[in-house]
Amino acid sequence: MITKEQLLEALKPLAEPSYNKSVVELNLVRDILFNGENVSLSLIVTSEDEAYKEKAKSYIGQTLEKLGVAQVHIRFRLMTDYERNQITNNQDTTPSTESKQDQPVQPPIDQPILGEASTVEFIAIASGKGGVGKSTVTVNLAVALARQGKKVGIIDADIYGFSIPDMMGIEEQPKLVENVIIPVEKFGVKVISMGFFVQDNAPVIWRGPMLGKMLRNFFNEVSWGDVEYILLDLPPGTGDVALDVHQLIPQSKEVIVTTPHATAAFVAARAGAMAVQTNHEILGIVENMSYYESKDGTKDYVFGKGGGAKLAEDLHSELLAQIPLGAPDNHISEIDYSPSVYKQDSKTGQLYLEMAANIISKLAK
Ligand SMILES: Nc1ncnc2c1ncn2[C@@H]1O[C@H](COP(=O)(O)OP(=O)(O)OP(=O)(O)O)[C@@H](O)[C@H]1O
Ligand SMILES: [Mg+2]
Repeated sequence: MITKEQLLEALKPLAEPSYNKSVVELNLVRDILFNGENVSLSLIVTSEDEAYKEKAKSYIGQTLEKLGVAQVHIRFRLMTDYERNQITNNQDTTPSTESKQDQPVQPPIDQPILGEASTVEFIAIASGKGGVGKSTVTVNLAVALARQGKKVGIIDADIYGFSIPDMMGIEEQPKLVENVIIPVEKFGVKVISMGFFVQDNAPVIWRGPMLGKMLRNFFNEVSWGDVEYILLDLPPGTGDVALDVHQLIPQSKEVIVTTPHATAAFVAARAGAMAVQTNHEILGIVENMSYYESKDGTKDYVFGKGGGAKLAEDLHSELLAQIPLGAPDNHISEIDYSPSVYKQDSKTGQLYLEMAANIISKLAK
């Protein structure tokens, strides 16, 4: 099998038409994943020019076939404004045919949270399977970081399956000040979610490009203030949004959530592999729903044992926490009620605090 370097070398002659420069030199070939004799990759394009896409597809297909690749899966993605600027800054070349409709007017923002000057630590919460507790972990880790005095934000990147506002018991809407969105704050955490922009829980029926746009708006058109950490609640699996996040925030680190069940851990390993292939550091694994602890303190391992530890070993990472089964002991009559945030002095609340402290010290190194 060829290496990534050989693949890139072979694709060098392919030129991006609007820059008239090699797609490899412009760093437009991304997310190269090898799977046996097959390869999948993303090619960043500057417009929806179908003729170029066809040409690129057949060129890449034929070139890689000569190198022994059986099948190539190519994913086309429109260049983001950020990437466009980066190319302009780095290469001092501007595209000859700029697509104006893809350049929204940028409102003033207090601090660019993307880009090299940004000091924000991004932590994406990923999993292979759905329903293992990503959103629960995102919310509680964010709140735990805030409880330790950190300035924290959450981007609910699960555009179709948003759940963060509900889980935190948020009832307000973000405010719009001079065309800039002010995130809603609860438990000391700033939150932005598709849920704020959808009426009456209507389903989101957008397709790929719109999803990417929305996600970018969450970064570029939201006033995040001086946040130190932004947690991203990813949708389950290794689909387009997960890839978009990886591309949009190359510096983001990752926490992978699994249940102790072997199958969940096996599927989660794919999310881990995606992080590794796209050069994102895995901060560690959270094993959720690890056991049920009865009143007398005995632990019942309802979903089996060892999935988290095995995954941590496979990914050469660390098991950050084992969170037991059990809903938070919250009541709707309480001030600041939320269905999913564990109280600070509860056992699970303490586990999240320990995890947050561990992550703070890991990231400080
Ligand atoms: N430790 C736990 N004990 C009991 N219930 C839990 C625990 N963690 C999560 N849950 C519940 O399991 C369900 C799924 O959790 P959650 O929504 O956080 O998972 P998810 O991985 O984000 O799901 P999706 O893939 O749909 O986004 C929710 O109802 C949540 O309240
Ligand atoms: Mg979720």
